[in-house]
Amino acid sequence: MDDLIHAARDIQSRAHVPYSEYPVGAALETADGSVFVGCNLEVANYSNSLHAEEVALSDALTSGHTEFSRLAVSSARRDGLTPCGMCRQTLIEFCSPGLVVLCDAGDAVTEYTLGELIPNTITESMLE
Ligand code: THU
Ligand code: ZN
Repeated sequence: MDDLIHAARDIQSRAHVPYSEYPVGAALETADGSVFVGCNLEVANYSNSLHAEEVALSDALTSGHTEFSRLAVSSARRDGLTPCGMCRQTLIEFCSPGLVVLCDAGDAVTEYTLGELIPNTITESMLE
C-alpha cells in the first residue's frame, strides 16, 4: 500500500469525532515530496467542524507550499471515501486539476484526478 495512504490512515488517531464517530485522515504530498496530514475535528455546533482535507491543506499552505502532486483520503471504515463537495471546491482553489486523489477502499485504492471530481467549476480566473 502507498505510503501516502498509510499517512492518511495513521492521522485518523488524532481525529476529534464525538458526533459522527467517523474518523477521516488526509495526506497531501507537495511537489518537493513533503507530506502534510490532517484529520477531521468536529465542534459541538457541527458547522464549525473542520474536514481532514482542509486541515492538511491549511498546514501545507501556511508552511509556504504552493505546488501539490497527490492527496490521499481515508476513513476508518476504509469505504473509498472521496473528498466532499466543499473540500473539492477548496482543493481546486489551491491545487491543479491534475492533482492525483487516492481514496482508500481497504485492500484497493481508487485513483481520481481532482479535475474529474470537480469539473467545470468556478475558479479565480473567471473573476478577473
Ligand atoms: N469529512 C471529512 O473530514 N472530509 C470529507 O471530505 C468528508 C467528510 C468528515 C466531516 C465529519 O467530521 C465526518 O467526516 C462525517 O461527515
Ligand atoms: Zn470535506
